[in-house]
Amino acid sequence: MNNQTFAMIKPDAIKNGHLGKIINHLLNDNFTIIGLKFLKMSKDQAKTFYSIHSDKPFFEELTTFMSSGNIAVLALQKENAVSEWRKTIGATNPQEADEGTIRKLYATSLGENAVHGADSDENAQKEIDFFFTRRELIYTT
Ligand code: RTP
Ligand code: MG
Repeated sequence: MNNQTFAMIKPDAIKNGHLGKIINHLLNDNFTIIGLKFLKMSKDQAKTFYSIHSDKPFFEELTTFMSSGNIAVLALQKENAVSEWRKTIGATNPQEADEGTIRKLYATSLGENAVHGADSDENAQKEIDFFFTRRELIYTT
């Protein structure tokens, strides 16, 4: 489905008190929330979630950080949701992110960059399924 994506609000953004502002930002950008949970990942969960990066030098740092505190996970709906959400969050490195993007506004560093966005329709569905059962999602028309 090309109208759904998966998003996370990462531990740095929660610790820095940006949860409400980020949710407000995405609603203002006309994303519809079809699933929302507040939780803390275990280290093993973080490793599974980011397994695509298991051979990268930053894998240990990334999974330790992602399991270090509370996060919010969201299933979002909008036309072309994956690319629209990537536009809304901005570049991975906040120093390279466009003005007005979530990472420009709220991220602190390349590693602690406030939010996650799925990078393809296929991965969006996998990531939604990682955190949500069908009954936990609201299907809009
Ligand atoms: P994400 O998956 O979290 O939405 O980020 P992304 O697609 O923009 O970037 P990706 O290449 O998938 O990297 C995943 C996350 O790993 C951390 N990272 N650290 N220290 C480093 O060199 C480095 N590079 C990437 C970032 O937190 C990035 O979001
Ligand atoms: Mg990525």
